[in-house]
Amino acid sequence: MKTEKMLAENFPQMPVERADFPILQRQMRGGKPLIYLDSAATAQKPQLVLDTVNAQETLHNGAVKRGAHELAEESTTAYEDARQKVADFVGADAAEIIWTKNSTESLNLLAYSFGNASCGRQLPNAKHNFALGAGDNIVITRAEHHANLVPWQELCQRTGAELRWLDLDAAGRIDLATASVIDCNTKVLAFTHVSNVTGAISPVAELTALGHKNGAVVVLDACQSVPHMPINFQSLDIDFAAFSGHKMGAPTGIGALYGKAELLADLPPFLCGGSMIKQVSMEISTYADPPERFEAGTQPVAQVVGFGAAVDYLQKAGMENIAAYEEALTAYALPRMQEIPGVRILGPASAENRIGAISFAVAGVHPHDVGQVLDSYGIAVRVGHHCAQPLHRHFGVWASSRISFAPYNTVEEIDIFLTALAEVRKFFGIEDIK
Ligand code: ALA
Repeated sequence: MKTEKMLAENFPQMPVERADFPILQRQMRGGKPLIYLDSAATAQKPQLVLDTVNAQETLHNGAVKRGAHELAEESTTAYEDARQKVADFVGADAAEIIWTKNSTESLNLLAYSFGNASCGRQLPNAKHNFALGAGDNIVITRAEHHANLVPWQELCQRTGAELRWLDLDAAGRIDLATASVIDCNTKVLAFTHVSNVTGAISPVAELTALGHKNGAVVVLDACQSVPHMPINFQSLDIDFAAFSGHKMGAPTGIGALYGKAELLADLPPFLCGGSMIKQVSMEISTYADPPERFEAGTQPVAQVVGFGAAVDYLQKAGMENIAAYEEALTAYALPRMQEIPGVRILGPASAENRIGAISFAVAGVHPHDVGQVLDSYGIAVRVGHHCAQPLHRHFGVWASSRISFAPYNTVEEIDIFLTALAEVRKFFGIEDIK
């Protein structure tokens, strides 16, 4: 009782209002209230975002940068205002933010643009040479999800460059003792800021310094960090970063690529077509400056504007508050999960230097079965390999279950999850099997 009281007194205040998230009122199968512990896959959206998207579609819809009429003007203003908001949120200038579909597309954009540079499609007068070839290497880590792995594998296959990776320690943290794979032939160093499986925060400063010392372009996959902690890309000194709107309360279908202005200026285009050009003749075209050079075709305006609203919502809650609150939820859940017989955490066992994405294996039970039992309690978790098969192999498993927190989760929800998790092995009658 005493511990519970101390916990209640010391626990940080929830930085958002649960009532702002209509979906959290839902009753699931069997009348159970929804307990949503799958925000690392996709986060729920506050009413502010839903209303903003609705208003954009209902009242302001017009083609961005393509019309002289009032609706086109309103849409263009909203589109560029959102860019400024997102840029301010991540410590960037507006022209350093390029809209993409999601982090996956951001990383593909980079890999394809580097590939185009490698085929001799460098921009005229470019100071930065993004071309790769035989003898060069790209370095990633074993902690990457497939979006920051497969595009680099493909780029290596197209250019003859070699793919190398840093390995991990027993807790799944990047092992800097394996960083000798980075050398003066490393053209790209791409790594995750936070693992979507282990929740571990990477040593960004050390890796960035190493990459730059060797002349590499440093790419940060920030899709699991931007929603959960204060970020300033310019201070981190990384060259490019990818993140997704839907993991931070924005609609699906919108993400961003950050790039240092002087690098974006020299980056060849990826998708080509309308709005990304300066001049087009039947023989040849010249390209617009960033960000337009990378935003070909009609853009997802309502999603962009919704992204701006999501950032407004998070700014109001305060990213410091969100980080502290989610860390407290993680510190509450981790030791209690480890007390449950048969439960093994894949990743750091304590809440330090990690976020609240917690993957776990339950001895003798397939993750899909874990997920189904939890679902019968109204609890939504992710199951499978979480798009990170090599990382799962590191832990000697093919798949796992994962809970992940957002600022709208509560200790009470974690308690219900812990009760349900303790029932999983009993449900299958294997609680005595080691
Ligand atoms: N977005 C995927 C996840 O759920 C990779 O972690």
